[in-house]
Amino acid sequence: RKELKAFPEGFLWSASTSAYQVEGAWNEDGRGPIAIDLKEDMPEGTSDFKDGVDHYHRFKEDIALMAEMGFRAYRFSIAWSRIIPDGDGDINQAAIDHYHEVIDELRKHNIEPIVTMFHFDTPAALEAKGGWAQRETADAFVRFSEILFKEYGEKVNYWLTINEQNMMILHGPTIGVFPADTTEQQLNQYNHNMFVAQAKTMAMLHEMHPQAKIGPAPNIAYVYPASSKPEDVIAADNYNAVRNWLYLDLAVRGEYNSLAWSIMEEKGTTPEIADGDMEILKSAKPDFIAFNYYNTATVADAPFGGGASERSEAADQQISEGEEGIYKAVSNPNLGMTEFGWEIDPVGMRMTYRAIWDRYHLPLIVTENGLGAFDKLTDDGRVHDDYRIDYLRQHLEQTQEAISDGVDVLGYSPWSAIDLISTHQGIAKRYGFIYVDRDEFDLKTLDRYRKDSFFWYQELIKTNKLPA
Ligand code: BG6
Repeated sequence: RKELKAFPEGFLWSASTSAYQVEGAWNEDGRGPIAIDLKEDMPEGTSDFKDGVDHYHRFKEDIALMAEMGFRAYRFSIAWSRIIPDGDGDINQAAIDHYHEVIDELRKHNIEPIVTMFHFDTPAALEAKGGWAQRETADAFVRFSEILFKEYGEKVNYWLTINEQNMMILHGPTIGVFPADTTEQQLNQYNHNMFVAQAKTMAMLHEMHPQAKIGPAPNIAYVYPASSKPEDVIAADNYNAVRNWLYLDLAVRGEYNSLAWSIMEEKGTTPEIADGDMEILKSAKPDFIAFNYYNTATVADAPFGGGASERSEAADQQISEGEEGIYKAVSNPNLGMTEFGWEIDPVGMRMTYRAIWDRYHLPLIVTENGLGAFDKLTDDGRVHDDYRIDYLRQHLEQTQEAISDGVDVLGYSPWSAIDLISTHQGIAKRYGFIYVDRDEFDLKTLDRYRKDSFFWYQELIKTNKLPA
């Protein structure tokens, strides 16, 4: 291609965080615990989430740094267990006020809030009553959403329902979002209950605030067949169905992906569907699709008796291992890896954009993409994270390719605005533009420092094009 199209005017340059990973203040001002706070088996040497990076107290300082970078938007999540400490009971006014302050602070700096309503943080009290297995939890989520829309609906134009529902269902027991012994049948029921809750929430926002927009936020990964062998291509199709399209077909079209459904049927793990559910699912229409992209997946045919995975243990944990008769995960020899064993595939991001666009024709917002690395604060008070700049540049080049291919992309919100606690690898795995001075178990000063990527992103936003 000779010339790429420019990033559109008004492109939402942003970055992301989630409440339980960034806020800290886990038991302050009435916040109720979430299931992950109470997890007793954090991987060895890894911080828990209780202190985060103290964004709860320092949000004004953090938002000022985001404004200095030029952010047009900031994606964050509102903690359900702050607003309703036990998930379905009394409303905590202190929390309502807190998020008004956060949103007002953003607006003061002309930063558009992009609010995630649920980012892995089921209130512990609901979890104790059976969590997402219960329809009551879905109802409690819908009530929580209604409170958010009433309070903030006039000030927030972009809403995300559930972050990475697919990763929760595929990996929730591993990352501590759900109990380790949750069965597949139970997970499929959680999944269904979440879909119903999401659909009700989308329809409700449209009714209450027609100007506002809402969409799902799954993690989508293009799936390659390991070879041109037809059986490998079938395996890729299978994995695409259960990992990607099951989620978007339900959110956008309100129907179960027939291949994913037939795989569940064969395993005898289909969820129970109550009367009226399918009508509810059909009634909701998202305005855009938000998706998180870190890497692609490569899979091969998995005949019975042949084992389910050929990936090394270090391989990306966002890719499921596979299942005999359906697909098996393999490594892609054409790709490099991060220090944490995640494959890096910028061109795969272009394909992911195309695949989603082709299938649904809805505008897209990238709500996560980024590089987890062992950053080092140097004596000059900087982090020389040229590796992160390279990573982001390559993914943004491919974003521009996708835009030039004809895909409608509204914004880019990488992970993460500021360092925070990773899902299961502590603070050592950093993603931010802003470095936070703390270690795994020593909170140190919690001071903020601008990384080299901070200045690079600032330049990019200012000129609306990739720095030379
Ligand atoms: C996504 C999540 O899965 O990836 C984030 O939405 C998470 O919450 C991010 O932090 C990076 O994953 P990890 O495991 O490196 O923290």
